Amino acid sequence: MRIALIAGNWKMNTTAAEATKLVREMLDRLEEATGVEKVLCPPFVSLAAVRELVKGSSVKLGAQNMHFEAKGAYTGEISPLMLAGLCEFVILGHSERRQYFGETDHIIGKKIVAALRNRLKPIFCIGEKLEENEAGRTKEIIARQMSQGLSKAKPSPDIVIAYEPIWAIGTGRAADGEQAAATIGFIRYTLSRLWNENVAQELRILYGGSVTSSNIAEFISQPEIDGALVGGASLNAQEFLSIVEQTAAIKTKQSAIRRQQIADSK
Ligand code: PGA
Repeated sequence: MRIALIAGNWKMNTTAAEATKLVREMLDRLEEATGVEKVLCPPFVSLAAVRELVKGSSVKLGAQNMHFEAKGAYTGEISPLMLAGLCEFVILGHSERRQYFGETDHIIGKKIVAALRNRLKPIFCIGEKLEENEAGRTKEIIARQMSQGLSKAKPSPDIVIAYEPIWAIGTGRAADGEQAAATIGFIRYTLSRLWNENVAQELRILYGGSVTSSNIAEFISQPEIDGALVGGASLNAQEFLSIVEQTAAIKTKQSAIRRQQIADSK
């Protein structure tokens, strides 16, 4: 059974002092939430400080990006080797990286391979633009992003996929739960075609885009959706805690029902 995951993508927000304060405000209650994996993705420069704070807790860390080379003359870049000792996850292919920094499916594919080679778990972001959605091209875009992004990677349940429709990111206009679950069902189907059914069933697929404490239940109550990648709302301690706690409650209930169904079928 897949363990739910809630990741907070802080983007280019928080100084080191603000990052520390935010973690302190959340840590005790995050620790109490069980049945859900909790991942904080602060800016690079705060990773070390936040790592010290969460040490010994169940809270995990992720970076927001990385280069695919291990080292070299790439001024300003951060390598997987540097992250390997600092965090467990790394967000790759976020639409803001694609849009503002020219990242292509090909580059993202290289990053995914490099992350796995360094035992980092990629949170691989995919999603369509508004005009692509309106033109009915969502599946085509997602299938392309997946086949190119995953073409060189070995099948691995360590990969997490985040389905983030671009029109829903930071806009306050979230997808509806059923619509997101249907697209995520298609993503799982595509994984089973690219790789195999076992990996497709093991791998976690999150929804992202304007998730808040008011709409998280709509997504999480869909068994197909394994969690969320949360941007804006992850910068507010009460909001993020509520998202994590609602997820823990709903997914724990879903797992109990599933276990009962399996027991009944034996
Ligand atoms: P948002 O961002 O929750 O602020 O829409 C999500 C993301 O970009 O990962």
